[in-house]
Amino acid sequence: MAIIAPSLLAADFLHLQREVEMVNNSAADWLHLDVMDGLFVPNISFGPMIIEFVKKVTTKTCDVHLMIEEPSRYFEQFKKAGADHISIHIETCPRLHQDIQQIKAMGLKAGVAINPHNPAGFLSDIIADVDIVLVMSVNPGFGGQKFIPNTLNKIKEIKKLIVEKGSHAVINIDGGVTLENAAEIVAAGADALVAGSTVFNAADPLEAIRLLKQA
Ligand code: DX5
Ligand code: ZN
Repeated sequence: MAIIAPSLLAADFLHLQREVEMVNNSAADWLHLDVMDGLFVPNISFGPMIIEFVKKVTTKTCDVHLMIEEPSRYFEQFKKAGADHISIHIETCPRLHQDIQQIKAMGLKAGVAINPHNPAGFLSDIIADVDIVLVMSVNPGFGGQKFIPNTLNKIKEIKKLIVEKGSHAVINIDGGVTLENAAEIVAAGADALVAGSTVFNAADPLEAIRLLKQA
C-alpha cells in the first residue's frame, strides 16, 4: 500500500485545525507541507510559523517541501517548527550534497525534489544519500494542476537508479494525483503519493484518502 501524504496547500485555512484533525483521523501517513517563497516558484504559501501551529495538532509525519531559494538558510527554523522530513530542490541547491548531509545531521529525513523538465539521471550521484526522491509531476507553485504523463517513465528510471546505486530512497510523487491515475503511478514504482485537491476538495476527504491508499 502506498504512503499517502495529503497536501495542506489545498485545505481551508480558516479552519486549519479541523482540516489537520481530519487528516489525523484518516488512513494518511504523512502531512505534506508546501513552503513557497515567490522566487523559486511564482506563488507564496506559508512558512515555519504555520507549521509550528500545525505541529501542535497533527499526529502525522510532517513532510516539508521547500520551494524556496537557498533553503539551507531555514533548515533550523523548519526543524524547530516540527518538520520530520525536509525535501529541497536540485534546481536551487548548488551544494546539494552538503545540504542533504546537513538535514540528516539534524536528525531529519532528507529529500531531493526534481522538476518535470529535469531527467532522472540528474539524481545519479545524490540518490544514495537521500531518504526521499520527490518527483514533481506538475510545475511547482500551485495545486490543482494536471499530472504530466512523462512522470510515469521517470518514476521507472528513478526506480532503476535506486536499485543500481543501492539507495534506500522512497519515491514520492507530487502534483496532479487523482483517484483515476493513482493506481498507474503506484504501478510505475511510486512509494508515496502527495494529494492536495483530490483530498481537500473531495466531498468525503476520508474516503478519498482511503481510496488513494488502496491504489
Ligand atoms: C505544488 C505542490 C503540491 C501541491 C499538490 O507545487 O508541491 O504539493 O499541493 O497539489 P495537487 O495535489 O492539487 O496537485
Ligand atoms: Zn509539494
